[in-house]
Amino acid sequence: LERERIKRMGNASRPFRRIAYFLCLLSVLLLTEGKKPVKPKCPAWCTCTKDNALCENARSIPRSVPPDVISLSFVRSAFTKIPEGSFLLTPSLQLLLFTSNTFDVISDDAFMGLPHLEYLFIENNSIKSISRNTFRGLKSLIHLSLANNNLQSLPRDIFKGLDSLTNVDLRGNAFNCDCKLKWLVEWLGSTNATVEDIYCESPPEYKTRKINSLSPKEFDCIITEFEVYQSLPYQSLSVDTFSYMNDEHVVIAQPFTGKCIFLEWDHVEVMFRNYDNITGTSTVVCKPIVIESQLYVIVAQLFGGSHIYKRDIFANKFIKIQDIEILKIRKPNDIETFRIAEDWYFVVADSSKAGFTTVYKWNGNGFYSHQSLHAWYRDTDVEYLEISGKPHLILSSSSQRPVIYQWNKGTNEFVKRFDIQDMEDAYAVKHFKVKEDVYICLTRFIGDSKVMKWGGSAFLDLQRMPSRGSMVFQPLQINNYQYAILGSDYSFTQVYYWDAEKAKFVKFQELNVQAPRSFIHVSIDKRDFLFASSFKGTTLIYKHVIVDLSA
Ligand SMILES: *[C@@H]1O[C@H](CO)[C@@H](O)[C@H](O)[C@H]1NC(C)=O
Ligand SMILES: *[C@@H]1O[C@H](CO)[C@@H](O)[C@H](O)[C@H]1NC(C)=O
Ligand SMILES: *[C@@H]1O[C@H](CO)[C@@H](O)[C@H](O)[C@H]1NC(C)=O
Repeated sequence: LERERIKRMGNASRPFRRIAYFLCLLSVLLLTEGKKPVKPKCPAWCTCTKDNALCENARSIPRSVPPDVISLSFVRSAFTKIPEGSFLLTPSLQLLLFTSNTFDVISDDAFMGLPHLEYLFIENNSIKSISRNTFRGLKSLIHLSLANNNLQSLPRDIFKGLDSLTNVDLRGNAFNCDCKLKWLVEWLGSTNATVEDIYCESPPEYKTRKINSLSPKEFDCIITEFEVYQSLPYQSLSVDTFSYMNDEHVVIAQPFTGKCIFLEWDHVEVMFRNYDNITGTSTVVCKPIVIESQLYVIVAQLFGGSHIYKRDIFANKFIKIQDIEILKIRKPNDIETFRIAEDWYFVVADSSKAGFTTVYKWNGNGFYSHQSLHAWYRDTDVEYLEISGKPHLILSSSSQRPVIYQWNKGTNEFVKRFDIQDMEDAYAVKHFKVKEDVYICLTRFIGDSKVMKWGGSAFLDLQRMPSRGSMVFQPLQINNYQYAILGSDYSFTQVYYWDAEKAKFVKFQELNVQAPRSFIHVSIDKRDFLFASSFKGTTLIYKHVIVDLSA
């Protein structure tokens, strides 16, 4: 119906259009009559010759200059803007000059329809900014001058498509050499045009530096940030990620409902969704381990013992395959999995007085206990790492300094090597590598947490961070960015960023997580997420965003 009505209206309006056209033609004929031969008009404030016009004190861009002029100049004009398509009536222009004018805005496509323009001088005006598409279409432009204006920056790609450009003059501006100008430095390095030397006016550390000889490398323009992406309405302790059947998954231990909650990425909804649970009681750790494409989950509980589940592909559910000896593992606090010479292992840190931190080994059908370490020490955390290519374990306990065990190839067992000096009551130790160097982050609940570096025979102090109720100090690598996140029960969680030049962590961002217990990085669909578990509030998923300030 609507379409029908539009059609009828269109038919009705056609005769009117024709009448309007005739009226218009008539008025043109009447106006030009008596002025034969047609003499090019010249606005009052301009001086014109056949191919040249010079305008002074112009109040607007004249519409009536001779159409064949090839050069047009404006001096001390009173207009404040060069609008889009200002020169459509003078398509033969080869030179256009503006000097000592007061306008400060030049619109996109201001010089549209000037295919022959070769020289453009916009000098000694007070232009502060130019639109990105100002010079679009000037494919014959040879010489461009924007000298002696108030330009602090230039939009990226403003010279794009100016294929004939051989001379650019940008002198006498107040360029601010920040990330917004990085592209110009890159362009200067690649253009074939001659560009007069120009200098930075700001920031202070760049003042009087020659822009033509800056290197794009001097601009540090990539910033990153963690942004809340999704929140899960439950408390959590351990969070882990694993690859299984060509997909990335997440498993979260829920201490109060006792569940291991499994999440997968919903490619359509673009968020994480729950797909299965393992139910239990007082679950503190859910540790996935994929062996020969088969998923196992070690479920550590404070009560009712700890168990191992297997994913049954045919029934599409988890089935319990074995229990973990209750005599050794009474109060599990942390689990790590690792592989030494083709063999799979996991190790459980036990924090009960009479328990043992125990290493379990996969034998093809199940896991059996391989070695018990460190009796009577109430271990709170275990970390597996390689130092100089050799497997090591670091155990943290509430009663002793962290101890380091080294794998002995002959006996296939871990042997105590030494303890970490000067670090009583470390709750947990986690490691990271920068190039070949090994570092550890040691968490203290109150006091100072520490970063230490492996010095060849011992770990040496590198940095201290104040802990205000910290149960986790987790190093994380996201692409090329190295972070360490220090959780806090009494204050904000601090994210630190590794400054490669200083070879230290620097403060980066504060996150508000209630009683954080673990942080992990999950990479899915080319996106990077940070999961932050919370013992008292909601589990948070942050997205790692990268912003290029020079874009
Ligand atoms: C333009 O400004 C510069 C620097 O202020 C000055 O040296 C030059 O004489 C001016 N040119 C004109 C045409 O006003
Ligand atoms: C500069 O000139 C060289 C040689 O003529 C040419 O290969 C190159 O593409 C030109 N670069 C630009 C940015 O126009
Ligand atoms: C798993 O547990 C969560 C939280 O208790 C619940 O919301 C969800 O419905 C459960 N999912 C399944 C598949 O049972």
